[in-house]
Amino acid sequence: MKICVTGGMGYIGSHTCVELIKTGHTPVIIDNLVNSNKEVLNRIQKITGVKPAFYEFDVRDEAKLDACFASEKFDAVIHFAGLKAVGESVEKPKLYFDNNVGSSKTLIKVMKKYQVKNIIFSSSATVYGTPKHVPLLETDPIGQATNPYGQTKIEIEKLLMAEAKQDPSMNIVLLRYFNPVGAHQSGLMGEDPWGTPNNLMPYITQTAVGRRKELTIFGKDYPTKDGTGVRDYIHVVDLALGHVAALKAIKEKWGLKIYNLGTGKGTSVLELVTTFARVNNVKVNYQFGPRRAGDVAENYADVKLAKKELGWSALYTIEDMCKDAYHWQKLNPNGYAQ
Ligand code: NAD
Ligand code: UD1
Repeated sequence: MKICVTGGMGYIGSHTCVELIKTGHTPVIIDNLVNSNKEVLNRIQKITGVKPAFYEFDVRDEAKLDACFASEKFDAVIHFAGLKAVGESVEKPKLYFDNNVGSSKTLIKVMKKYQVKNIIFSSSATVYGTPKHVPLLETDPIGQATNPYGQTKIEIEKLLMAEAKQDPSMNIVLLRYFNPVGAHQSGLMGEDPWGTPNNLMPYITQTAVGRRKELTIFGKDYPTKDGTGVRDYIHVVDLALGHVAALKAIKEKWGLKIYNLGTGKGTSVLELVTTFARVNNVKVNYQFGPRRAGDVAENYADVKLAKKELGWSALYTIEDMCKDAYHWQKLNPNGYAQ
């Protein structure tokens, strides 16, 4: 199938393009490079032997999107494009709404014009808000997002739900990612955040290679197994394969489906740090600090539905995630900007 991959130059999009190519699909990337590097195209080519077609523009640019759809004739869309920094979204909520919700509206409009019926959307576990229980089920209510970034995901989910109601011939898959980490096993692709990382794994890898002095563990008094926060970390390649499985499962008149993509297992911050140090035989300096505002104690997925309906489940372990993340960071200490 020919797949329009918005945000395909980013962390999850690039890994998904590799898996799409490996399974015989043709990804075409649209990305404005606001949070990615053109070098990604060369890396995809090194891994797969194929350099995907790339359009550099903002998905909100309707004229360019229209021209792209007119010439490419897509079978499906995977919509990764979006801004994702929680802290920045608190400072610039309008930017986040304009970019994330705005690009989704433009995309839906152009898809309708060109009769492209299939879309997979990158949603997030953040839509559940503060969990009332774990594991989280797809049928759990969408909560009150704790930040504007999360609110954009809720708004886009609602937009797509309304679309599904209004046009029953649309096939829409909302994939709610838990905590994607790790990197491609080749060490050629991985996570490359701008500036100081907000997320745990890139902070650990950058500390391990000496780019950061020490990790601060946010809180040691949570009601969890060792007092530190518990999350459902999922290898980015497993996540990419989840998209391939969703594409395969889409049938005509599927309507709207929602799946959690996680491993179903909770890992604490301390467990992740000690596993990383052990499997990579490297020291990770850390200290304990106060809790981070907005963090929940524990968050992990019920993953039975994706297994049952998509035939997909995560294969990689926490050890694999730690090894692959470190391999990538060691080979690319400054990310793609070498
Ligand atoms: P990323 O920032 O690495 O990739 C997003 C890509 O979208 C970037 O290449 C960026 O340049 C591009 N982009 C952003 N706005 C655009 C626009 N208006 N037009 C064109 N391109 C645009 O992020 P990622 O980690 O790969 O995340 C991909 C998607 O998954 C995002 O929607 C994100 O919110 C969602 N998600 C990510 C995580 C995570 O932990 N990484 C968790 C849950 C959901
Ligand atoms: C964060 C976002 C969430 C987003 C997800 C994926 C917040 C509040 N939530 O989730 O909306 O969907 O990323 O992008 O930002 N930690 C440390 N030290 C650090 C960094 C993190 O101890 O330097 C801890 C956190 O307190 C948490 C765990 O590590 O317990 C994971 O944090 P992180 O990687 O930021 O992911 P989430 O907070 O789960």
